[in-house]
Amino acid sequence: MDLKKGQELEVNIESLNIKGQGIGFLELDGQKYNIAVNRSYPGDKVLVSLRKIKKNFLEAQLLEIIEPSKDRVEPQNSYALISGSTPLECLSYEKQLFYKQNEVQRILKNLDLDPQINPIIGMENPYFYRNKMQYSFGVTPDVFEFCLGMHHFKYKFKIVPAEDCKLCDPICSPLVDFTLEYFKKSDLKPHDYRDGTGDLRNLTIRTAKNTEDKMLILEVQRPENLDLYQDYFQQVSQKFPELTSIYLHTTFQRKGHKTHIKLHHISGKEFLTEKLNIKDKDFTFEILPQAFFQPNPTQAEVIYGLVQDYAKGSSIIYDLFCGTGTIGIVLAKKAQRVYGVEIEPQSIQAAINNAGLNQIENIQFLEGDVYKVLKKTKLPNPDLVVVDPPRSGLTDKALYLISDLQPKSLIYVSCNIKTFAQNAIALKEKGYTLESVTPVDQFPHTRHLEVVSKFTLQK
Ligand SMILES: C[S@@+](CC[C@H](N)C(=O)[O-])C[C@H]1O[C@@H](n2cnc3c(N)ncnc32)[C@H](O)[C@@H]1O
Repeated sequence: MDLKKGQELEVNIESLNIKGQGIGFLELDGQKYNIAVNRSYPGDKVLVSLRKIKKNFLEAQLLEIIEPSKDRVEPQNSYALISGSTPLECLSYEKQLFYKQNEVQRILKNLDLDPQINPIIGMENPYFYRNKMQYSFGVTPDVFEFCLGMHHFKYKFKIVPAEDCKLCDPICSPLVDFTLEYFKKSDLKPHDYRDGTGDLRNLTIRTAKNTEDKMLILEVQRPENLDLYQDYFQQVSQKFPELTSIYLHTTFQRKGHKTHIKLHHISGKEFLTEKLNIKDKDFTFEILPQAFFQPNPTQAEVIYGLVQDYAKGSSIIYDLFCGTGTIGIVLAKKAQRVYGVEIEPQSIQAAINNAGLNQIENIQFLEGDVYKVLKKTKLPNPDLVVVDPPRSGLTDKALYLISDLQPKSLIYVSCNIKTFAQNAIALKEKGYTLESVTPVDQFPHTRHLEVVSKFTLQK
């Protein structure tokens, strides 16, 4: 039988892939296919319509749930589900963890990497965990109504209005509602990235978990109209006295010219203060508006605790991709000397302040690209290198340079199991054995997953 786009099929979903899609298996005329279906879960029997047909692989759209999986639960964030950012929300949290663990095991086993894989560490309460939300101004796709919400996970120009969100701090939803209503009544329009018209770009809200600090950053297009926003800032700070910092972020973009970005501190403190407790020790961190900070502070405590365990006995440590210096600062008390490298200037500035705040003196921060900094700076050879790169993982150049330094151990914190696995293979070729991996669920209900791992150099 020939398969055609639009053809309807009944499928039993049996597993879940790395994108959070349910996977079923079909056999037609002796040919075996995997079929991926969005928003379906193991245990579902579903009716689907075929969208993509490849040799052994089909992708289909869910039309109807004929029999629901017993692991289905009611979603708490319908808008996040619609935007596609939380594809696992209708699956029980216990099963989310089970499938994330399975995915790590499957990928590493397929690559012939055989580390000890520890049980995934999930959250006791997998809601209200995010400390940073960025909402975009735009129009709804159907009726072109002014809205403030999330970009659709797949369709960049589609904005899904943000309703009562249970992933972030409870201040976010009322702040978004207030801001939307305020600007709806103004003459200002959402910025359209396609033709460059309109002023309003984004509203970012950053919050701390263990202090009361809350920061608002309004991002707009034209810096010459600064006064236009003063009334909004006055009203928002009156309505939300809990806001401890307010910023205006202006972007000036003209075709053929370099983009100018400027941060204007409007009121309150210049930074957020967050406190983390790592293995019964308190640490304090300042976070500037553009500096990176782990998005889930509860799980950041878990990740840093694991790094501390894996790092025991190390003396000269490099903390590469160090952000606001957190990992290096947590490790410095038991090390002789730590060097942190980070490309983002605000993060470096925060890292230097953070070392002071935590009375750490044996740490030095270097600003720049990891590869370039390590290439040009003569530092004492490390016995431990910790890397925590962005989703793209380590570039070949950086990986080879790090392995040529021959640290006895390497701790790799990764938010992308795919690029982690590729780097792990390259590290194996350079003599590093992947000893241990601990998955951590930093992003409940999403398909994302963090792993903390340790490699050791074979003699
Ligand atoms: C996943 S974050 C980790 C931050 C930090 N380890 C923490 O726990 O908060 C990755 C960091 O790498 C930085 N970064 C990205 N590319 C870089 C590069 N080529 N060289 C140095 N730092 C880079 C980013 O600015 C970001 O702060």
